[in-house]
Amino acid sequence: MPDIFEITHKDSAGRIGRLVTPHGTVETPTIMPVINPNIQTIPAKEMPGFGAQMVITNSYIIYRSRELKEQALSSGLHSLLEFDGPIMTDSGSFQLSVYGDIEVDNAQIIRFQQDIGTDIGVPLDIPTPPSADWDAAKSELAITNQRLMEALELNNDSPMLLAAPVQGGIHKDLREQAGRELGGAGFDIYPIGAVVPLMESYRYADLVDVIVSAKKGLPSSVPVHLFGAGHPMVFALAVALGCDLFDSAAYALYAKDGRYMTAEGTYHLKDMEYLPCSCPVCIGHTASEIAASPNRQELLARHNLYATFAEIRLVKQALREGNLWELVERRARIHPRLLDGLKRAVTYADWIEQFDPSSKSTYFYCGPESTKRPEVIRWNTRLERLELEGTVLIRPGGRVKHESEYDNVLHFKPPFGAYPLELKETYPFNAEVVNVPDHESLTSALENTKKLIELNPGAEFTFVYRQSWDHPLIQEICQMVSHSWSV
Ligand code: GUN
Ligand code: ZN
Repeated sequence: MPDIFEITHKDSAGRIGRLVTPHGTVETPTIMPVINPNIQTIPAKEMPGFGAQMVITNSYIIYRSRELKEQALSSGLHSLLEFDGPIMTDSGSFQLSVYGDIEVDNAQIIRFQQDIGTDIGVPLDIPTPPSADWDAAKSELAITNQRLMEALELNNDSPMLLAAPVQGGIHKDLREQAGRELGGAGFDIYPIGAVVPLMESYRYADLVDVIVSAKKGLPSSVPVHLFGAGHPMVFALAVALGCDLFDSAAYALYAKDGRYMTAEGTYHLKDMEYLPCSCPVCIGHTASEIAASPNRQELLARHNLYATFAEIRLVKQALREGNLWELVERRARIHPRLLDGLKRAVTYADWIEQFDPSSKSTYFYCGPESTKRPEVIRWNTRLERLELEGTVLIRPGGRVKHESEYDNVLHFKPPFGAYPLELKETYPFNAEVVNVPDHESLTSALENTKKLIELNPGAEFTFVYRQSWDHPLIQEICQMVSHSWSV
């Protein structure tokens, strides 16, 4: 069977890819708007106008309604929704987790999804909540995985692609184990499940743990869906960690609550004097017009969709330019808990590093978290290969007296530290950094420099530093080298 997913571009652990489904190929990362088959406030057929390439709906809602069920079985899901593109269907697991009991079992809902012509079907997994302890999460995971394996067998001869939700609660070992077990079984799509409660309570650091753990278990070549992630403020981070698909019920749920989404946070419409967006809704109306309109909810939902797709295009553009991580760092300023997510993400820099193309666009220093970026981590390892002999001058920007008399000249640039001057114009040392380095940036640079000096005991070092730099490691380095002075 040809691969249904092809990765075409990479940046950080993110990628742009092509996903082939029975109803056409989509370019990822992409968002599937959630369509309620009962009330299509914005009809599925209008979704491409916002930038949607595929949609998602709930097969259990269709199954439960006699009318919808009959129509879906006789004319097919695509005719029911009047949508020709790829459609993913969820299984009713969410209803199961909320109501505890549903009228369908795993085999029935898989067969139903096949029968109505779903492009991507989902078995009846158990979305284990974050509150579940390890034992509870482990036993629910065993049931989920057993149902997934049953679904795989039932789907043997079907054109339907099969999604295998990776569960495990907030237990990193279980998420990784689930990823490994399912990843080896040959499903088509891997949603990371039960993350909605984490996002609703702003637990972005836990969200990062869950994503990275699942990704560590899964093969890097498979498409990954972050189930229930529809707020544009998380797209950059989630894509940079390797998520390819998102679904948004949020555009409609937020609209119902009178909330106006932007990639930089959410507003309550009632608090808005101005609309900071240029979509057709926001150009055509003032905030008070929308608030007073009988179509308020629909207008907000439309704006929310435009804002959602604008952000995914921005994420893709950043990825193509190789500066997705800078966008992640910018978005992390939206909310302190998102910044916690970024801080957790940089603890996985070693893992991200293996996917990050080693040469790309200019590194921009965006603050202390930038010192933990893969480029900096990579130099900390690469400098081990630098063998220095004779005299070595380490100096900040600007030539010093008698510079040409040294056997080696290294440029000291925070947060990297000392590197051969010849590499000044090459990536990542052509980085755009602040002229006044902060403490974290100096720490990183001085630690790397110290390591380089320790690794080359035969060389004779001279260290020149700026008077304005106030850092305890400077004195330490001065004691290790033959000569030092400040400029
Ligand atoms: N929608 C949001 N989260 C989940 C999940 O974990 N499983 C399923 N099937 N649907 C979801
Ligand atoms: Zn708008």
